[in-house]
Amino acid sequence: MSTYIFVSGKNWTLSLAELGTYFQTRNLKFKIDYFSTEFCKLTVESPLNTKIINDLGGTIKIAQIKTMVPTKIFKEAFLERHKPAQKQLSQTIASSEVLEGILCAPDKVLFGISIYTSDNTIKPLGGRIQRFIGSAIKDELAVRGKKSRFMGIGQDRSEAQLSHVEVLKKNLVENQAEVLFCMGKTHTWIANTIAVHNPFEFQKRDLYKPNQRAIFGMSPRLARIMVNFSGCMQGKVLLDAFCGVGTILQEALLEQASVVGMDVNPWCVKAAKENLEWLTDEYSLGGTDFRVLQGDVARLAEKMGVESVDCVVSEPDLGPALREIPTGPYAQRIIAKLEPLFFEFIEEAYRVLRSGGRLVVVTPLIRTRSREAVVMALDEKLKEVGFKRVYAFTDDMFGLAAPEHGRLMGTASFGEIDEHHKIGREIHILQK
Ligand SMILES: C[S@@+](CC[C@H](N)C(=O)[O-])C[C@H]1O[C@@H](n2cnc3c(N)ncnc32)[C@H](O)[C@@H]1O
Repeated sequence: MSTYIFVSGKNWTLSLAELGTYFQTRNLKFKIDYFSTEFCKLTVESPLNTKIINDLGGTIKIAQIKTMVPTKIFKEAFLERHKPAQKQLSQTIASSEVLEGILCAPDKVLFGISIYTSDNTIKPLGGRIQRFIGSAIKDELAVRGKKSRFMGIGQDRSEAQLSHVEVLKKNLVENQAEVLFCMGKTHTWIANTIAVHNPFEFQKRDLYKPNQRAIFGMSPRLARIMVNFSGCMQGKVLLDAFCGVGTILQEALLEQASVVGMDVNPWCVKAAKENLEWLTDEYSLGGTDFRVLQGDVARLAEKMGVESVDCVVSEPDLGPALREIPTGPYAQRIIAKLEPLFFEFIEEAYRVLRSGGRLVVVTPLIRTRSREAVVMALDEKLKEVGFKRVYAFTDDMFGLAAPEHGRLMGTASFGEIDEHHKIGREIHILQK
């Protein structure tokens, strides 16, 4: 058994659900032993290949757990400033395996510390905890004859955490030189970062592909999460019936799936093709299998053939660009106008999917002046067509120690909206 910490992206439920479906798709046995808004602790049967971080859109860091202390020691040490508790912490760190990698690094080593906690009493003390632990580690390394530099974090930061970019740029993964303190309600896990999300790779696919569309574009990270939700992997056929410039298709192609795109707009068809050709070259994929067709979704089954694909992943039109936050009734009218397109798509997607295949679809989520979000009601249509909702969280994913996982069980869809946006996304996972 191996245990790891997965540090989540901003939308932690989306990140956790992605992890679960990723492991299930690959038949990897796992248990989530603990989760919070910041991280989850996961036990797997055999050691993980750290490269899986490149397959996940919602994970920022993966870390290997080296030791564990009761969280109450942190509280005593830093909330109550209890000296014996501080000493106990320094001793635990000094005697743990968390320094082994740093000790093997060549020359004067640079190391950093990140604190992950959802406890608002401890959060403001993050900077102090980090400096205390930093100097305890530096002292211990000196005792063992290792020169080191501690990578502090500016006072202006609200979180005592190194960003993935900092960890990448300073090569902290290679030297196992980022130490994470992941505080749960009762236990704090001390771990070394072994993999970090590479934003430059995702950015490259976003900004350097030959054809882009600023307004309609979806981020490659979200596209990857949706592809993972669909159960897509090597050997499967994935269709995006509203492919735009091909963001979702790109991510599926990187999973070595066969991909088919369709769009009503001929410019998009050409743009998506060029982007997929670019991706094949840029990532030396060789032997990729993709097609992009021009057509209206109303004729999807006719064009594609019934029961011809394993996964459909799409983001249809989400409505007009809004200058200001709409009223509730106006948002309802936007949704009502879009419904025929979505409902027709759901019917057609059902026809082209093989039995057991999944549809992952985005519907609009509109922020309104009354602060209540307006969304599209799908359930009646799903029932009429025959789709079942896939609940991303199931009891068997969680270990006995995972607290409060019951509240995740009923999660039927995922909302995703940027703080300053008026239209966001609701992501649904459906099965034929
Ligand atoms: C929100 S965009 C999809 C963006 C895409 N995920 C991307 O990253 O480029 C929706 C796309 O659906 C296409 N579209 C709209 N109505 C359609 C229809 N009836 N049939 C097929 N495609 C349609 C539009 O041309 C547009 O490219």
